Amino acid sequence: MAHQETTESTDEAFGAEKVEPEALVPDTAQDSQDTINAEMAAQQADSPAGLTQTRLDFTAYRSSALRHPTKDLHLVDPEGIELWAPVFGHRDVNPVEADLTIQDGGEPIGERMLVRGRVLDGDGRPVRRQLVEIWQANAAGRYIHKRDQHPAPIDPSFTGVGRCLTDEEGWYEFTTIKPGPYPWKNHHNAWRPAHIHFSLFGTEFTQRMITQMYFPGDPLFALDPIYQAITDQGARDRLVAAYDHDLSRHEWLLGYRWDIVLTGAHRTWMEPEEGQH
Ligand SMILES: [Fe+2]
Repeated sequence: MAHQETTESTDEAFGAEKVEPEALVPDTAQDSQDTINAEMAAQQADSPAGLTQTRLDFTAYRSSALRHPTKDLHLVDPEGIELWAPVFGHRDVNPVEADLTIQDGGEPIGERMLVRGRVLDGDGRPVRRQLVEIWQANAAGRYIHKRDQHPAPIDPSFTGVGRCLTDEEGWYEFTTIKPGPYPWKNHHNAWRPAHIHFSLFGTEFTQRMITQMYFPGDPLFALDPIYQAITDQGARDRLVAAYDHDLSRHEWLLGYRWDIVLTGAHRTWMEPEEGQH
C-alpha cells in the first residue's frame, strides 16, 4: 500500500532501523464499512465539543495510526522563521495556471466548473497576493501519480494541478473539471468523497495551510474517516463549497463558492502532515 512505501522510504532517509511495516500495521483493508462507521461514531461521541481541527488519533483513518504527531509542537520564534520563508511575486505565477481545462491542448473530459472564494484572516481581512495551489483527481477519480493504480482512465488533457495568486481583495479563482470520488485502501470498499486539495503558502510561515474542499450533498461524507476525523460539524461544513448560480456561466460551466479562513475561531480545517488522499 502507498502509505507503507512512504513509511519505509522515510525511515531509510533518516537512517532509522528498518522495520517491516507489515509488522506494525495489520492489514485493515478488509474491515467493513460497518466496522468503520461504528468506530467513527464511538470516537465522535467521545470527542469534546468545538474541536475545529482534525483528531489526530482518529483510528478509523487507519494509515494515520503511525504517522500522526504524538508530541506537542515545538514552539519557535516566528519572526526568525519569516526571515527564511520564500515569498512569491506576480511574475512567478502565470494567470493561465488557474485554468486547468486549457493546460495540455485538448479539452479534458468531465463537468466543467469554476471555484471562487476569498482568503481571509480571523478578523475577516483579505489575505492579499497569496499563492493558492490546488491538485485533484480527474472526472473519473484518477490522479496522475504512479502510486495511484485505481483502474480508472487517465485523461491525457488533464494534469489536475493549478495555482494562482489572490488579488487585492483576497479573491482566488480556478476553472477546472469536477473531480470524481475514488477508492482508497483504508477498509473494504472505502471511497473518498470528491474533493480538491488546496495549499496556501501564506506570507508568514505560520500561515502555511493544506486542506481539502468538498462538494455539497456528497453521499460519501458519512462514510469517510478523513472527513469525519473533524469531529465538529461546523468545522466540517466549512470544508464544503456552496453551489453559486451567479458564478455559473450560460452553457459553459457550474460555479462554486468557497472561502478560506486562515486563523481564528472559524478557521478552515488544516490537514495534518501525513498522507494526501
Ligand atoms: Fe485526494
